[in-house]
Amino acid sequence: MTTQAQLHCLCLLTLYLTTGYGQEGKFSGPLKPMEFSIFEGQEPSQPIFQFKANPPAVTFKLTGETDGIFQIQPDGLLYHNKSLDRETRAVHRLQVSALDAQGNTVEGPVPVTIEVKDINDNRPVFLQQHYEGSVRQNSRPGKPFIYVNATDLDDPATLNGQLIYQIIMQLPKVNNVMYFQINNQTGGISLTPQGSQELDPLKNPSYKLLVSVEDMGGLSEHSFTDSVHVDITVKENIWKPPEPVEIEENSTEPYPIKITQVQWNDPGALYSLVDKENTPRFPFSIDQKGDIYVTQPLDREEKDAYVFYAVARDEQGKSLSIPLKIQVKVKDINDNPPTCPSPVTVLEVQENEQIGSSIGTVTAHDLDEQDTINSVLEYRIVDQTPKVPQDGLFLVQEYSGILQLVVQSLRKWDTPQYNLTIEVSDKDFKTLCFVQINVIDINDQIPIFEKSDYGNLTFPEDTAVGSVILTIQATDADEPHTGSSKILYRITQGDSEGRLEIETDPQTNTGYIKLKKPLDFETVAIHNIVVQAENPEPLVPGVQYNASSSATFRLMVTDVNEAPQFFQQVSEAKVSEAVAKGTKVGNMTAKDPEGLDVSYSLRGDKRGWLRIDPATGEIFSVALLDREAESLYRVQVVATEVGGSYLSSTAQFHLTLTDVNDNPPRLVKEYTGLFFCYPPKAPGSLIFEATDDDELTFRGRHFTFSLGSESLQKDWEVSKINGTHARLSTKHTGFEERVYNIPIRIGDGGRPPLERTVSLPVTFCKCVENRCFQPAARMPGIPPVGMAVGILLATFLVIGIILAVMFFRMKRDKGQHNAESSQASETKPLRN
Ligand SMILES: *[C@@H]1O[C@H](CO)[C@@H](O)[C@H](O)[C@H]1NC(C)=O
Ligand SMILES: *[C@@H]1O[C@H](CO)[C@@H](O)[C@H](O)[C@H]1NC(C)=O
Ligand SMILES: *[C@@H]1O[C@H](CO)[C@@H](O)[C@H](O)[C@H]1NC(C)=O
Ligand SMILES: *[C@@H]1O[C@H](CO)[C@@H](O)[C@H](O)[C@H]1NC(C)=O
Ligand SMILES: *[C@@H]1O[C@H](CO)[C@@H](O)[C@H](O)[C@H]1NC(C)=O
Ligand SMILES: *[C@@H]1O[C@H](CO)[C@@H](O)[C@H](O)[C@H]1NC(C)=O
Ligand SMILES: *[C@@H]1O[C@H](CO)[C@@H](O)[C@H](O)[C@H]1NC(C)=O
Ligand SMILES: *[C@@H]1O[C@H](CO)[C@@H](O)[C@H](O)[C@H]1NC(C)=O
Ligand SMILES: *[C@@H]1O[C@H](CO)[C@@H](O)[C@H](O)[C@H]1NC(C)=O
Repeated sequence: MTTQAQLHCLCLLTLYLTTGYGQEGKFSGPLKPMEFSIFEGQEPSQPIFQFKANPPAVTFKLTGETDGIFQIQPDGLLYHNKSLDRETRAVHRLQVSALDAQGNTVEGPVPVTIEVKDINDNRPVFLQQHYEGSVRQNSRPGKPFIYVNATDLDDPATLNGQLIYQIIMQLPKVNNVMYFQINNQTGGISLTPQGSQELDPLKNPSYKLLVSVEDMGGLSEHSFTDSVHVDITVKENIWKPPEPVEIEENSTEPYPIKITQVQWNDPGALYSLVDKENTPRFPFSIDQKGDIYVTQPLDREEKDAYVFYAVARDEQGKSLSIPLKIQVKVKDINDNPPTCPSPVTVLEVQENEQIGSSIGTVTAHDLDEQDTINSVLEYRIVDQTPKVPQDGLFLVQEYSGILQLVVQSLRKWDTPQYNLTIEVSDKDFKTLCFVQINVIDINDQIPIFEKSDYGNLTFPEDTAVGSVILTIQATDADEPHTGSSKILYRITQGDSEGRLEIETDPQTNTGYIKLKKPLDFETVAIHNIVVQAENPEPLVPGVQYNASSSATFRLMVTDVNEAPQFFQQVSEAKVSEAVAKGTKVGNMTAKDPEGLDVSYSLRGDKRGWLRIDPATGEIFSVALLDREAESLYRVQVVATEVGGSYLSSTAQFHLTLTDVNDNPPRLVKEYTGLFFCYPPKAPGSLIFEATDDDELTFRGRHFTFSLGSESLQKDWEVSKINGTHARLSTKHTGFEERVYNIPIRIGDGGRPPLERTVSLPVTFCKCVENRCFQPAARMPGIPPVGMAVGILLATFLVIGIILAVMFFRMKRDKGQHNAESSQASETKPLRN
């Protein structure tokens, strides 16, 4: 198609775009192959090129696709006398030959190619006057469901042929929301995301679009446009979850059974199922028509509902839309029998349960769906074993399973156990459940004595302790070996002294009455004993012990001749050791049970200190008593029946002597080795100790010490150290080498105060190595064999002393002054 009206400025340009090798001149040159590009639609009679003829060539000839447009003048000017149309012929292939005068070809032909360049001289045109399409609701946004297509004759390689599609208008348009979009390159129309969600054929099943197409890529204001109407029908989406399905469990129909179906909006989708619950068993499948099947029998008791998903994919495996949720509920059938709570249900019933008491519940279970007829259970007792005292003691409530007593209270002695068989049934099944009812005893029975009076028993009073005097028996009908049947016997009357005790055999409840203390005719000759039998467990309310639970017997004690009996087996007395002869120091009395007179005597009076009055039992001293000899004097007193049988018995008399101060103090030992070295260099001292044989009181000893003679006071001094020790000191050094016996008075400060003057021998002797050179007497530690030698030495000593005294006298007579002023005396106490 050629249009000349639209050439505008381009048509005015005389533009020769030359390429190729003819560079001799832009617009002229020799004959050679050439290419030219010329815009279409230009003014006609445009020169293209001036070929120059080389002799002998005089003229040129043009052949090829001239289409009557291209011409060449004899002088070689190539031109076109009509405007070109690219859409008619885009490339003209011409040949140019050079001819001589005879018309023979002397050059060529050479190819001359004319390319017609496009100008936008063609409008885009939709291929159809009107488009109609349909789309499913909820289709995927962006997925084209219809294409519009326009053509433009202009060169598609240039902007002139580049088309852009656009939706100009959507009718109806609600809330200014575009439901449709177009791909501006391909013309494919698809849903927008909103369109995918909101389109609903029930609300509006059809839409009109005005679609335009524009060339020049829509970029130029000189572009051409075309438009077309597109009618769109919205169709219902059939990719929808099906209704939940109910499948009866355990169906006997052949499998697989179709249960529901899904369908993608277009054919060719690939279907699959997805189990998101990860059930161990997934008995469903789908085929490629979208039909869903259950493949195996279901079990509601295993799983009562399934939820899974159906997926539609395209051939590339890409999901076409959201997966659809498939819900399957398994319908219950009564395919489970009732089950018992346990193989045997054990219940316990007390003996005294009243009629109508609930004694327990049998709760059977049914796996079938609760609250449906399939799981409603009915209970019925079909057997009671044993049927004592009669059948039908129990009742089970039909629907609750509660067991009740209906006829009477149970008694354990009838039977301790009942076995019940209970039939539990649902709509179709029956199950037997077993119940064991144990009858529990209660303490509703009192002990009953075999007899209420065991009669008269006679025992001598000297019956041995521990003897069984009577066997008694009571029985209790409660359950054996329980606190309800065990019997405790208790003496409630006639044994206030507790002479009897009862031992009970736990197996037989036999009671053995034994003597715990001796009988005594003289005290109680007849015991009227009442024995009560009781249970350790309390009795149930309403039951009480009665006269049948006690028994009596009469215990008669016969007299036996018995020895006198002392009131005390041991009698203690205390007197001062200083009591006068003939003082009463105590008494012991015994009484003969038979009332005979008693005579007393003493045994074991080894010091002969005491006398007992045979008639009264009074005890007297008959000698001076000495605590220091026996502080506790023990004798036995014998009581003997006078007349009759002369039985006797013995008791102890203990006489404690209390001290009186009857011993003067004394030196604690014999001091034989006291010495001072002669001649004494200085006054010295020695220590001695006193003691006393009297009882030491809590105050301790507090002796007083003094010199026994006042005349000695100028030479000696006694000073008390403490209660027992004192120090004897020399007052000067003027002593002779001899033994001085120093009298010392020691007082005990007792009551009465006693004192004694003891003589303390002190020797002045020559010392060798601080020992007495000539011991004045036997040294402690010298063995007796040395005694003879000692005596010999003593003899020499006496002679020596005599000599010494003589010598001393002579010397004193010579110079008394010298002797008195001599101070060089060294004194040392002798080591004991
Ligand atoms: C162009 O040339 C052809 C012959 O070459 C002729 O038939 C035609 O009439 C010419 N057209 C015009 C408009 O001159
Ligand atoms: C549009 O139409 C042309 C010509 O009929 C065709 O070649 C092209 O493939 C079509 N385009 C589309 C997108 O259908
Ligand atoms: C054509 O569409 C593309 C993306 O869809 C967009 O980027 C481009 O701008 C559009 N062209 C015109 C001319 O609207
Ligand atoms: C299915 O029913 C049959 C009787 O129809 C029964 O024997 C079987 O136990 C049942 N299966 C299940 C799993 O309930
Ligand atoms: C009750 O049944 C049990 C076994 O379950 C049996 O040992 C017992 O002897 C039965 N008791 C009676 C009273 O039948
Ligand atoms: C028991 O002794 C009493 C009196 O000592 C007498 O009355 C009673 O009859 C005696 N009973 C029997 C059974 O001997
Ligand atoms: C004591 O009670 C028992 C029943 O518990 C009865 O059998 C008996 O006769 C009663 N004895 C007396 C003395 O009432
Ligand atoms: C025996 O001594 C007790 C006190 O020891 C005195 O009560 C009793 O009268 C005395 N009996 C006689 C017989 O002297
Ligand atoms: C008294 O004195 C002497 C000598 O110092 C000492 O051995 C003794 O233990 C004393 N006795 C008491 C009771 O202090």
